[in-house]
Amino acid sequence: MAKAGLLFLLFLGAFILQCQGNERKPYIVYMGDKPEGDFSASAVHHSILETVLGSASLAKKSRIRSYGRSFNGFAAKLTDEEVEKFREMEGVVSVIPNRVIKLHTTRSWDFMGFSRGKLGAPIEGDVIIGFLDTGIWPESESFNDEGMSSPPTKWKGKCTGANFTCNNKIIGARYYGGPSSLDDESDIKSPRDSEGHGSHTASTAAGREVKEASYFGLAEGVARGGVPNARIAVYKVCWSFGCSTLDILAAFDDAIADGVDIISISVGDDWPNPYWDDVIAIGSFHAMGYGILTSASAGNDGPFPHTVSNYAPWTLTVAASTIDRKFVSQVVLGNGQVFSGMSINNFDLNGTSYPLVWGGDATNYSAGSTPDISRYCYSNEMNLKKIAGAIVYCEGLLDDFSFLTPNGVGTIMSDYDADYAFNYPLPATQISNEDGQKVWDYIKSTKNPIATILVGETWNDAMAPTVVSFSSRGPNPVTPDVLKPDITAPGVDILAAWSPLAPPSFFGDTRKVKFNIISGTSMSCPHATAAAAYVKAAHPKWSPAAIKSAIMTTAIVMDPRKHPDLEFGYGSGHINPAQALSPGLVYNATEVDYINFLCKQGYNTTTLRTITGTNSSCSSTVPGRAWDLNYPTFVAAMEDGRAIKAIFTRRVTNVGAPNSTYTVTKYMPNSISITVEPSVLTFSKFGEEKTFTVKLDGPSIEQEPIMSGAIVWTDEANNYIVRSPVVVYTILPGATYVPPYASQMTPKYEGSTKHHNHRGLRRN
Ligand SMILES: *[C@@H]1O[C@H](CO)[C@@H](O)[C@H](O)[C@H]1NC(C)=O
Ligand SMILES: *[C@@H]1O[C@H](CO)[C@@H](O)[C@H](O)[C@H]1NC(C)=O
Ligand SMILES: *[C@@H]1O[C@H](CO)[C@@H](O)[C@H](O)[C@H]1NC(C)=O
Ligand SMILES: *[C@@H]1O[C@H](CO)[C@@H](O)[C@H](O)[C@H]1NC(C)=O
Ligand SMILES: *[C@@H]1O[C@H](CO)[C@@H](O)[C@H](O)[C@H]1NC(C)=O
Ligand SMILES: *[C@@H]1O[C@H](CO)[C@@H](O)[C@H](O)[C@H]1NC(C)=O
Ligand SMILES: *[C@@H]1O[C@H](CO)[C@@H](O)[C@H](O)[C@H]1NC(C)=O
Repeated sequence: MAKAGLLFLLFLGAFILQCQGNERKPYIVYMGDKPEGDFSASAVHHSILETVLGSASLAKKSRIRSYGRSFNGFAAKLTDEEVEKFREMEGVVSVIPNRVIKLHTTRSWDFMGFSRGKLGAPIEGDVIIGFLDTGIWPESESFNDEGMSSPPTKWKGKCTGANFTCNNKIIGARYYGGPSSLDDESDIKSPRDSEGHGSHTASTAAGREVKEASYFGLAEGVARGGVPNARIAVYKVCWSFGCSTLDILAAFDDAIADGVDIISISVGDDWPNPYWDDVIAIGSFHAMGYGILTSASAGNDGPFPHTVSNYAPWTLTVAASTIDRKFVSQVVLGNGQVFSGMSINNFDLNGTSYPLVWGGDATNYSAGSTPDISRYCYSNEMNLKKIAGAIVYCEGLLDDFSFLTPNGVGTIMSDYDADYAFNYPLPATQISNEDGQKVWDYIKSTKNPIATILVGETWNDAMAPTVVSFSSRGPNPVTPDVLKPDITAPGVDILAAWSPLAPPSFFGDTRKVKFNIISGTSMSCPHATAAAAYVKAAHPKWSPAAIKSAIMTTAIVMDPRKHPDLEFGYGSGHINPAQALSPGLVYNATEVDYINFLCKQGYNTTTLRTITGTNSSCSSTVPGRAWDLNYPTFVAAMEDGRAIKAIFTRRVTNVGAPNSTYTVTKYMPNSISITVEPSVLTFSKFGEEKTFTVKLDGPSIEQEPIMSGAIVWTDEANNYIVRSPVVVYTILPGATYVPPYASQMTPKYEGSTKHHNHRGLRRN
């Protein structure tokens, strides 16, 4: 399969080379902030296009979208030559090729100690969460509006699309692009969800309570979102083929103007783009300017370093970790051996044993296959007669069960030791390679091997929470001095609402479910979104940075012994929504703070004024470190072989007791000296700000993937614990900042053809 993929890419490459030049391809022309006052975006953009393209009819034909409600820009089909003209045009920040990117409950809330009723619940009903996803299934019980008042008066959104009605829970719904530009009939041209993903994420964050929810009886209980009374606004940007960046930008433009309070986006690009070439960075930057925090998934490309996506400092970047429940389905061989496999298996074989066949013994020779291939059970390689009525042992994970569904009973698959489970269209489980070897030994040692697969169970996972293997890891591929991901949240085997139009497991599964269990940073992101909505409900005036800081500094500390990549896996730690309401101190940041940060990243005044539309200017054109961005974490990315030397400046705002004194405690590996000055901060009123510096000194380090500690501010009454991780690692010389428009940037890891599939999981 890998080979076929590679070949396809080679052909595609050749095709692209041939077609370069005159063919029109979709681009986003991003023009920064919207002009003051009345501004007819479509008229302005039409006239700009007419000027460059030379004719009004061509301009009309080529323009796809105008952005003008919250910022300025348009999408159009352009030739290479026209792209160059726009790049040179005054007022244009960037010209970005459209890309198709990928989508990256309910035990999880109780696991965090975030139970309903225990809390003095703030008025979530005023908080509106905008979901940029695959749409929603409005008839799902999770989205009923029983007892909810009409939408807050600030709401300016609307409900579009045939056969789709909003209520007091789903207060707005829009859709972008879609089937007009493609042929997949399974997509519905409305905000209605035919993939399941969008219903799942929205209900994880803000679903109402639904009793006796389960996946065919597994994980039965009350399903609910973190903020069941918050409002949902739907922006359908993802379809069966993926998510177009030009649609995502349109959704940000609308969501901001519609008046959402928090944006949740479980979508990401595998490629590390500079900030103004990345639509999620652009959209979330403008959202931040309007006081809206964007919560985004870190990606599913772990456990490899540098894979984190959505790394802009103004977004909350969410990794995925386990909860204390895991799904196990055991295998019993004819010789009595029992193996525990990971699987969400609802099929009960009632203890009956079936013939057990190794894929390598079910080779379809007439199709040209050999045992060396059929051992992996690729559909076209199998002899269907040999597997009729049998359980098939396959080496490696399957994503196509079509060869088994006509006559096979089920499958035992062996692969790496999984820390998450899939669900399947038939009895199936995944065991480790080591256990797989034992299954194979058994098959080869007896004449009539038999086995059965037991119905799935939920087991307690005492190790939880741990960052799951697939969760994308830092360091930050664009700004090495800013820690990413920011936080981790439950993202493994989460039960939440599903679309009846989408198969619950793999393609070809014809069952319909109201709830499904899936994994991904797509699932952890809405958990963090709900935490942000919860803080926003309690503190409506807090800035996006303050909300983010509250979530990060109150996070539960993860166990470093279980995580070799430490903070590059989990950021500040595990979300603790109840505690995030009372952080004591926050690391606030304004648009100006981010502008100063961008200046040091190498952007100039001209570019920044276009983006922000203010009189902001860079005081220095010299690129520098991001060490004075008022971020709630500290990172010193040291050039390989250099001594550790870093000075950070920070500013904290008192949001706890008016009169309070905070004292710092420092934790750092012995070889690194850490000084915090002053080490005591005394506040006499609410909202008061104090600054301090953190100084690191240490010996030279070489090829150090990560060393870390923390600084913790604690008030005298011990009511508030404000913790920030401090991370030191080495990078290659010269990589301390990345200049903008670095088109020659290297990919963050090899083989970037891997991507998040719509289930939020990567398979090979
Ligand atoms: C509207 O959607 C519902 C839910 O899918 C479906 O049952 C109904 O037939 C649809 N009505 C129309 C007119 O398409
Ligand atoms: C197992 O037993 C249940 C209940 O008797 C029955 O519905 C089901 O079909 C049986 N499964 C198999 C594979 O025989
Ligand atoms: C072997 O493969 C061929 C071609 O794909 C198929 O027609 C045939 O049915 C297969 N044979 C068996 C026994 O499955
Ligand atoms: C943070 O800064 C913003 C912008 O200056 C301000 O509106 C807000 O009150 C500050 N404090 C908090 C806790 O958000
Ligand atoms: C600012 O940066 C842009 C993009 O790199 C460049 O085109 C422009 O010339 C720069 N302006 C100044 C004043 O340096
Ligand atoms: C920008 O600066 C100019 C000249 O200094 C001033 O007239 C204008 O009001 C300023 N605009 C804003 C938005 O601050
Ligand atoms: C805080 O301390 C100041 C000065 O010591 C005092 O005037 C003020 O009343 C105190 N405020 C509270 C809420 O205790």
